[in-house]
Amino acid sequence: MSRIHQQGMVLPPRADRAVPASGGDARERQRIWLQQREMAATCRQCPLGALATQTVWGEGPIGAALMLVGEQPGDQEDIRGRPFVGPAGQLLDRALHDLDWDRSIVYVTNAVKHFKWVPAPRGKRRMHKTPAQREADACEHWLEAEIELVQPQALVALGATASHQLLKRAVPVLRERGHWLTRPDGRKVLVTLHPSALLRIDPAYRESAYDDWLTDLRHASRYALAHAVP
Ligand code: URA
Repeated sequence: MSRIHQQGMVLPPRADRAVPASGGDARERQRIWLQQREMAATCRQCPLGALATQTVWGEGPIGAALMLVGEQPGDQEDIRGRPFVGPAGQLLDRALHDLDWDRSIVYVTNAVKHFKWVPAPRGKRRMHKTPAQREADACEHWLEAEIELVQPQALVALGATASHQLLKRAVPVLRERGHWLTRPDGRKVLVTLHPSALLRIDPAYRESAYDDWLTDLRHASRYALAHAVP
């Protein structure tokens, strides 16, 4: 049986989402994570599933100390089926490298699992379009399932969409960046800019903006390391 979302989207009942309330052991969590990924692959709870090439699920180990959450897959991610592999992902990789963090120990995902795009006025390019709140809300249970299964020590919200979905309120990113905020479930979230925002900055100011961004991310990585479960 399905319940109907306010905006007319169909969401499965909680029991169908198959996430145990307290997480279970790591192998069980891994099994359920795989199940969730498979279920999300055919998700049509909002119109974006039909627009995108494929669902882009999160990547990284169950039990990762740090979870990075972006907005939605971009053009490259949509084609390759992996989060943060396009230009924004390359900047994120540079930051992880500068912080001495191997990407393979970090969990990387998005608030919205499908690429929302519009055709460019000329040519064949697909242009990113910010997801509507109702589309992000339709994806909320996938993101919450990932958090419940990975059980990160800290989360980093990259940009406004991720911040809103993680903290359940609109967050003025520039005002609240770099501070630890608390989710309703008690988990810590550090809000910062989305790497795409850095890519849009005038090149003359980009490196200093990058340094400030790295300071935010360093804060998060130190916290996650200090609280990592051995
Ligand atoms: N932007 C995002 O928010 N996520 C991606 O995976 C790629 C670009």
